[in-house]
Amino acid sequence: MRVALAGLGVVGRSLLELVRDRREELLKAYGLNPRFVAVADKSGAVARATGISPHEILEQKRRGGITGIEGAEVKSGTLLDLLGELDIDVYIDATPTNIVDGEPSYSLIRKAILARADVITVNKGPLALAFPAIRELAERRGVIFRFSGTVGGGMPVLEFAKECARADTIVAIEGVLNGTTNFILTRMEEEGLDFPTALKQAQELGYAERDPTLDIKGLDTACKITILANAVLGMKVTLHDVEVVGIDGVAREDIVDALKSGEVIRLIGRAGRRLSVMPERIPKGDTLNVKEAMNAVRFTTQYSGRHTITGKGAGGYETATAILRDLISIKQRRLVET
Ligand code: HSE
Repeated sequence: MRVALAGLGVVGRSLLELVRDRREELLKAYGLNPRFVAVADKSGAVARATGISPHEILEQKRRGGITGIEGAEVKSGTLLDLLGELDIDVYIDATPTNIVDGEPSYSLIRKAILARADVITVNKGPLALAFPAIRELAERRGVIFRFSGTVGGGMPVLEFAKECARADTIVAIEGVLNGTTNFILTRMEEEGLDFPTALKQAQELGYAERDPTLDIKGLDTACKITILANAVLGMKVTLHDVEVVGIDGVAREDIVDALKSGEVIRLIGRAGRRLSVMPERIPKGDTLNVKEAMNAVRFTTQYSGRHTITGKGAGGYETATAILRDLISIKQRRLVET
């Protein structure tokens, strides 16, 4: 499988490590053998038709920049140009989220789809801004479009939703969808940490976005609610349809006050008749009361009640596992078709 990868932050590097360390297992269990024929980070892009090994990419990245990768047949340029020139089966987008215009991810995804490559993205920006348009383009071009890692980190929220909806209809979604803010709220609640210290810890653990205000102001949760509303409820909405309040207004006293009434404060995203994100007081025993960087998503169905999935919602290996899951699903679907 010829793969182009953009983005070598925590998630991109974790993916390369997983492929390097689990190569035999992936091949044996799923026949999956990703060959990285192009790779890009903020320094530029390089390509080699025979593939660049994950070890080589990681080493070169550690030394200062992938554009230093040399050898026969190495092409360099922008990934946008290379995507049009190279023969690629799958484009993996692990670039950082930009919710202003979704770039550079949006253009890269479009280019890959137009070049008839299947696409996997963990970047929430383009989906939060233009989910219906991307889905339509992918359908028209007959390419597979997967985005499991955009919601819930490594936990298979979208796959779980598919199962819940198999003989039923999901009518509403609610959940704790941001690991960073949940981590901060939990640390403030249980250890009495102040906000900046808790945020710093979340950043050190690799949970926060490159721009952590996306987490704090509830926008990351709003992106995920938008993605779920489109993908699970079949709505055609964007980030701008979500009413958003972050946790920056939550004081330690609010947390203590809630605890006295047997409640905790959690940043809850909701999709149903309306879309919203806001800090809410919920009973300690509520299934949405998860700790640290855990996420919890609850689907309300028409006939079978409510189903909740919980798991670690942020982190490099967790999100990279979601990419592998998408790669396996693409591999299996393409095998059925041939
Ligand atoms: N910054 C995000 C979070 C990463 O904290 O949940 C996973 O989407």
